[in-house]
Amino acid sequence: MSVSAQKNYRPETRLVHAGIQRSEFKEISEALFLTQAYLYDSAEECEARFSGKIPGYVYSRYSNPTMSMFEQRMAALEGAEAARSTATGMAAVTAALMGQVKAGDHVVAAKALFGSCRYVIEDWLGRFGVTSTLVDGADLAQWKKAVTKNTKVFFMETPTNPMLEVYDIAAVADIAHAAGAKLTVDNVFATPLYQSPLALGADCVVYSATKHIDGQGRVLGGVILGSEKFIMDHVHQVIRQTGPSLSPFNAWVMLKSLETLSVRVERQTKTAGLVADALAGHGKISRLIYPGRKDHPQADVVAKQMKAGSTLVAFEVKGGKEGAFRFLNGLKLVGITNNLGDAKSLITHPTTTTHQRLTPAQRAELGIGDGLVRFSTGLEHPDDLIEDLLMALEKV
Ligand SMILES: Cc1ncc(COP(=O)(O)O)c(C=O)c1O
Repeated sequence: MSVSAQKNYRPETRLVHAGIQRSEFKEISEALFLTQAYLYDSAEECEARFSGKIPGYVYSRYSNPTMSMFEQRMAALEGAEAARSTATGMAAVTAALMGQVKAGDHVVAAKALFGSCRYVIEDWLGRFGVTSTLVDGADLAQWKKAVTKNTKVFFMETPTNPMLEVYDIAAVADIAHAAGAKLTVDNVFATPLYQSPLALGADCVVYSATKHIDGQGRVLGGVILGSEKFIMDHVHQVIRQTGPSLSPFNAWVMLKSLETLSVRVERQTKTAGLVADALAGHGKISRLIYPGRKDHPQADVVAKQMKAGSTLVAFEVKGGKEGAFRFLNGLKLVGITNNLGDAKSLITHPTTTTHQRLTPAQRAELGIGDGLVRFSTGLEHPDDLIEDLLMALEKV
């Protein structure tokens, strides 16, 4: 069944059926094609397949039936014309950015970024003569002011990691387009179920599929989505020629994971809302941020562009790093890690992990205090989680 034939189905249905390509055996479950290359019946067919005159798989660095099934399922879910899968989320971010710029170009990005994304924009692209300006993503005037005549790319993640700020995708896309630039959105925290950047005007969406898409802590992966033209102009050759590709095995794991994405994320979001409400106003917490609550700093933007809150809750434990560490070490059920989006509830201390590369002043500018923790809600019973969190807060 083609992706376009799936377009009218609701997301939950697309997650189970979209993109499936059945072999002659008519298997029910998606097949895993662990092959590097493909046989041709003749030298002429080989030549035609290589030149693209006839369709067909050529080499698994850039084309493989299991990778295609995963890409087409993601495209159908996102409402994108095309997708390319990558080995990790960072491979997706890096390939999407490198494919859009050349030496002398300029990138404008929100400064509230996952640490490695900030490194790629500020340090890595800088090595190749691409300059960047980082702005407060919530301040539209700053996006406008940062534009230069060489600006080619706008980049943001929303909700942001770890402060869960939410930026206005449609308004920023308009500013980008007026400047002749294109907007790429890292949609990891919203998941494809709760926010559709392409429909809001973005040109490209990237995911770390490592997070909610696998959702069970097993494999790493990434996806880049956009129009057919965007993918062919900016992404296809980068993936084909430089090879940051997803393995067919990991694509197969992700395909099976997508079948349960909606059930997991809906349940995790509901639990996250309960956790946020249980902790808000607690005496040992100075601040709590959850996109599903009315007191969220950009609640109006959340209402406008997101279908639901988030599976993540951020809060500042009183007593700085010492207070946060006492709290983390007091947890019995929730695991200390730097990952998120798992079936198991996880907690992160950004100052000493994901954002340790930033200076204290840079973290302060983003609102990341030494007591801040980021809670990723799993599939446990909400009461067990709330009991664990409240019990650990007593240790602070
Ligand atoms: C917002 C965001 N973008 C990108 C990444 C990178 O993904 P990966 O670890 O799959 O490379 C992560 C997490 O690590 C993330 O949180």
